[in-house]
Amino acid sequence: MVSEHSSAQILVASNRGPVTYTLEDSGELTAKRGGGGLVSGLSAIGGSEGGERALWVCAALGEGDREAVRRGVGEPGVRMLDIDAGSHEGVHAEAYNGIANSVLWFVHHMLYQTPLEPAFGPEFRAQWASYETYNRAFAEALAESAGADAAVLVQDYHLALVPGMLRELRPDLRIGHFSHTPWAPVDYFRMLPDDVAEQLLRGILGADRAAFLTGRWADAFTECCVAVLGGTSGTRIGVHGLGADADFLRDRSRQDDVEERLVALREQIGGSGDRKVIVRVDRTELSKNIVRGLLAYRELLETRPEWRERVVHVAFAYPSRQDLAVYRDYTAEVQRVADEINSRFGTEGWTPVVLHVKDDFARSLAAYRLADVALVNPIRDGMNLVAKEVPVVSDEGCALVLSREAGAYEELGEDAVVVNPYDVTATAQALHTALTMPPGERSERTKRLAAAATALPPAQWFLSQLHALGTAGGGQRS
Ligand code: F6P
Repeated sequence: MVSEHSSAQILVASNRGPVTYTLEDSGELTAKRGGGGLVSGLSAIGGSEGGERALWVCAALGEGDREAVRRGVGEPGVRMLDIDAGSHEGVHAEAYNGIANSVLWFVHHMLYQTPLEPAFGPEFRAQWASYETYNRAFAEALAESAGADAAVLVQDYHLALVPGMLRELRPDLRIGHFSHTPWAPVDYFRMLPDDVAEQLLRGILGADRAAFLTGRWADAFTECCVAVLGGTSGTRIGVHGLGADADFLRDRSRQDDVEERLVALREQIGGSGDRKVIVRVDRTELSKNIVRGLLAYRELLETRPEWRERVVHVAFAYPSRQDLAVYRDYTAEVQRVADEINSRFGTEGWTPVVLHVKDDFARSLAAYRLADVALVNPIRDGMNLVAKEVPVVSDEGCALVLSREAGAYEELGEDAVVVNPYDVTATAQALHTALTMPPGERSERTKRLAAAATALPPAQWFLSQLHALGTAGGGQRS
C-alpha cells in the first residue's frame, strides 16, 4: 500500500505495545490485543502489525508480559523487551512511573502544584539513571533489529532519548520521533534540571524528524530547543493531527453489544426518553479535568434549577496508572464529587450523575450515540480522540463542549462550544448553551465536526509520517 517504501523495513518503538499477556492460574499465557492509532496505522502497511516489513519493539509491562518474554512466546512482528531482566530490578518502574509519568507527563501537561513540587534531588537522579538505562535498552534492540535503510518511528515521552542513542549506534537509519502529548511552554519546561532538559531535547533531535499532533505543540518544542540549545540542529519538525477512524467507528457502534448497552444506559438515565444527556468518557487521568467537569455540572443544577430531573451526566472514568498514589487519590475524588452531587440533588426517579469506572468500549460507543452534549474539558491534552469520535458516532447530532487546551481544539474549535478548562462557572454556562442549542444548528455543527475529525484517519496519519521521513529536505516544517 505504501509506494516509496514498499520494500524498506519499518520499526515502531513504544513503551506500550499492541499485545498484553496474562498469566492464568493454570500457568497458561493468554494474549490480548490492544487498539489505538498506532495499531490501525500499522495495518495500513499490511496485516495487524504491518506484515513482514514491520517490527514493533515495546516493553514488557506486567508479570504476564515478562513471563511471555522468558518463555520466548511472542506475536509475529512484535519484540517485547524485559528491561529489568537486563539490568537491576525496578528499572522499568522507575523509568515509567518515576520519570515518564510523574515528571515528563507532569511537565508537558503542566500538572505540578509548584509551591512544593517538583523537587529534583537524589531520588530523581536515581530514577533518571533508570530512564537512561531503559532508553538505551530500546536503542540497542532497535539497532540490532533494524536492517539497512530501515525507517524507525519512536513514540512519545517515554523514549525521548532513543533517537539520539540510536543515531550513534546506527547513523544509517531514518529515524522519526512522534510526541502524543502536548509540549510544555519554555518557562515550564525549564523547571527541569538544565542538564536533563538538554538531554531530552538532544535526544529527540537525534531524529531526522520530530513530529507532533498540532502546530501549537510543535512550536512549543521548537521554542524550547531555541531557548535551551540555540536551535533545532537541522532536525525537521512536522505536524500530523491524528483523526478518528470513521469506517471502524460507524461499523463498530452499530453492533449488537452496543445496542444492548444502549438499552441498559437508557434505563439508567430514566425519565420517559426526554431527559438530555451530557456524556464524558476518559481515562481517570489528572489532565482530563473530570473533577472540574463535575463541579460545573453541579453549578448548572444549582444555578439553573429548571435542569433538575431533565438532564443526566453520564461519566465514564476508566482506571489508569493506579500504581501512582496521586492517580488513586484523584479517582477517589471523582467518585466523591459524583456521590455528593447525587445525594444533594438526586430524587426517587432521577440519578443526576451516572458514573461508571469499568472500562467497556461498547458502552462508551453507546454513550457516544445517545449524547446530546459531549464534555471534553482537559487541562491540557495532546489531541483528545473522544472529541473527534463522538461527532462521528452520534445518532442525532451532539453539541461539543471543548477545552481550548485540547489539541483537538485546533481542528474542532470553530464548531464547538469552547471553554477555559479552569473556569468552572464558564463551563456550567457552556453546558447550558450546549443543552439548549437548536436541533438544526446542532446537527449542522456535528456534520462539520465529523468531517474535520476524520480528515486524517489512523492509516493516513501513519503513512504521512513515513512518507515525510523518507523525503529529504530542510525547512522548518514538512
Ligand atoms: O497520550 C500519550 C499516551 O502515551 C497515549 O498514547 C496513551 O493513550 C496514553 O498516554 C497511555 O498511557 P499509559 O500507557 O501510561 O496507560
